[in-house]
Amino acid sequence: LGKKVNVGLLGFGVVGSGVKQIIDNNQEKLQHQLDCEINVSHILVRNLEKYENMVGQSTVLTTNPNDVINNDTIDVIVEVVGGVEQAREYILQALQAGKHVVTANKDLIALHGTELHRIAKENNCDLFYEASVGGGIPLLRSISDGLAADRIHKIIGIVNGTTNYILTKMNDESWTYTDALQKAQELGFAEADPTADVEGLDAARKMVILARLAFLMDVELDDVTVSGISGLPLEDLTYGQQLGYTMKLIGTATKNKDAVEVSVQPTFLCNEHPLASVKNEYNAVYVSGEFVGETMFYGPGAGSLPTATAVMSDIVAVIKNKHLNVNGKQYIEPLYDKKLLDKEDTISQFYVRIHAKDETGAFANISQLFKQLNISFERIIQKPSKETKVAEIVIITHKTSLANFNKALEKLNESDVVKNVASYYRVEGDA
Ligand code: HSE
Repeated sequence: LGKKVNVGLLGFGVVGSGVKQIIDNNQEKLQHQLDCEINVSHILVRNLEKYENMVGQSTVLTTNPNDVINNDTIDVIVEVVGGVEQAREYILQALQAGKHVVTANKDLIALHGTELHRIAKENNCDLFYEASVGGGIPLLRSISDGLAADRIHKIIGIVNGTTNYILTKMNDESWTYTDALQKAQELGFAEADPTADVEGLDAARKMVILARLAFLMDVELDDVTVSGISGLPLEDLTYGQQLGYTMKLIGTATKNKDAVEVSVQPTFLCNEHPLASVKNEYNAVYVSGEFVGETMFYGPGAGSLPTATAVMSDIVAVIKNKHLNVNGKQYIEPLYDKKLLDKEDTISQFYVRIHAKDETGAFANISQLFKQLNISFERIIQKPSKETKVAEIVIITHKTSLANFNKALEKLNESDVVKNVASYYRVEGDA
């Protein structure tokens, strides 16, 4: 290994500029650990003039991707352009040119991670993406290295900062969904088009990456049950509070025997659950293993320097591997065939809000319906609804299977005493 490792950045936006900033500001510690200098030698940008005053003489700005990807002096390519197709093309070319690749691109890894890993292995290259999940939280390496000897059976997490900010403001300040989203956009957490965040897709991509790593199974995006928070009624959050629960957009990846379930959905957490106190744009992920018990990782899920810290940890890992001459050997191949959990085996508590006719025997009727399915109630609220002769009933069930709860929903919708089922969510009672 020479005394200098050249890094090429594809993109110089929020994350790319953070990477350059950390390399420039923390060279002493990096050199001490790695026994070499790290230099950002080339950066691919769209507009040369916009960035020319932002870099020194040791860095070349270019609008030609080939100057970076096919440059013999560069060892590590950092892809931070975002998007899927263009980024995939750049990374494939870089790996085929024998470059190690670091990326923050969760969309790309969730969709094409398996293919990119294969190409990386064929070319003896590292492909790392610590920044793709949980921003600055050192999460992927904690799962793949720290918990390497454990059998992980459950991951539950808040992996999207935008939605956590929105839900925090709705819950703590009684803001409406629309006001909270607008504020998140003003503060720059939410994208101009926040669809992927609020519809749960961003979180689903991150859960796919976590599930693959934790369960060594080739889980795909289509395997994830996804529902987002757009238009979430404030009254559900208020009822939740009265019952001791906090609403969060929760990603879960659960393994039961040899089958897995991965989902992203608005979920009530009991207030004592450690994830219930994770506020604003912060992320946190709870990992349960057979041997370690319960662990929790908390931190900033986005932002320039936090995300760049995770990118830097990958660059450091590549350089350490170069010292040991073991690049391209850290691909953890799937060990198990994919098997998805049946709805009968997906066990949870549920919250359901029902509008029922306010007449004698209506509640008895509803409770009989649940009794027939062997679903018992943990908590109940009943109030007159704004509509006359309609009662609003909120129930939190004890644990039951998703299949059984779906049957209850069907029967409620068929029942003469029920006007409609207004909403329902999963509930995570214990940690
Ligand atoms: N849009 C993402 C979020 C950014 O809100 O968490 C980090 O992946």
